[in-house]
Amino acid sequence: MSNKKPNVYITIPLPEEAVQRIQTACNTEMWREDDPVPRKMLLDRVRNVEGLIVDTDKIDAEVFDQAPRLKVVSEYGVGYDNIDVAEATQRGILVGNTPGVLSESVADFTFALLLGAARRVVEANTNVQAGKWASGIKFGQDIHGAMLGIIGLGRIGREVAVRAKGFGMKLMYYDKIRQRKAEDELGIPYVELDTLLSQSDYITIHTNLLPETVHLIGKKEFEKMKRTCVFVNTSRGAVVDSMELYKALRDEKILAAGIDVTEPEPLPRDHPLLTLRNVIITPHISSATEPARVSMALLTVDNVIEGLKGRMPPGAVNPEVLRRFSS
Ligand code: DGY
Repeated sequence: MSNKKPNVYITIPLPEEAVQRIQTACNTEMWREDDPVPRKMLLDRVRNVEGLIVDTDKIDAEVFDQAPRLKVVSEYGVGYDNIDVAEATQRGILVGNTPGVLSESVADFTFALLLGAARRVVEANTNVQAGKWASGIKFGQDIHGAMLGIIGLGRIGREVAVRAKGFGMKLMYYDKIRQRKAEDELGIPYVELDTLLSQSDYITIHTNLLPETVHLIGKKEFEKMKRTCVFVNTSRGAVVDSMELYKALRDEKILAAGIDVTEPEPLPRDHPLLTLRNVIITPHISSATEPARVSMALLTVDNVIEGLKGRMPPGAVNPEVLRRFSS
């Protein structure tokens, strides 16, 4: 890294369009492997950087201590639970993420899991590949006319609601904060969590991972669900107690599940969830379409470029950092 451009370390391979854009403004070094950058290497690479683009890497006080010149951390994604934002804010470091550009893709994929689990798509495909055709495949469950309970009516939850209406589903939602505007626009009633758990035929989660949402769904919550309930999670693995999900599926306390996020990720090969037929598990790919990932990457690099120019990043998570300097 040389000359007057700021230095940026990127811990995940970004699409070419985004790399070209950031290279017009910054010197970059990018980790190009599929596996996450090893912690020791990350701590070494941040020593001389003003900007950092990360994926699931843990960005905490230890990283900040090693990076005295760091001004902007930009998350390649909407969830930033891996970044200690309070610590960054205290140190005057801007944090950015990518809200909005992936909501529809994640909502589409939520429906892929919901439909796949309800109609036993993966199980049927496995059967056919094993030469057993329809032998032993039980009937699926209807989606139209069924009640969908949405936990978290933010951008993604709202896109899920729009799709659910197209499928002729009935809707209810629970959120820590009442979303009155969305309630009116979508005609979707707010209910308490217990009501949602006990009355939904399908439940889908779209909350952030926060201290108060860790294991929001555990033993007690699964016990309240209908035995025919199909449970979907495309938010964060730790929002659900995965051993309790396993037991609920194993003991047929709920019918099936579709999960794109697990705790931990990747899920170990010997995890009991992998022994079940009534769960579809995908490797955190709900936003993984070409257009969504390119839009996410462009927003990620714009956060860095703008932040390093002293301007408000379009996806600023802690705008108070900049306001503090400019006041
Ligand atoms: C996000 O953006 O946080 C999604 O989980 C996709 O990575």
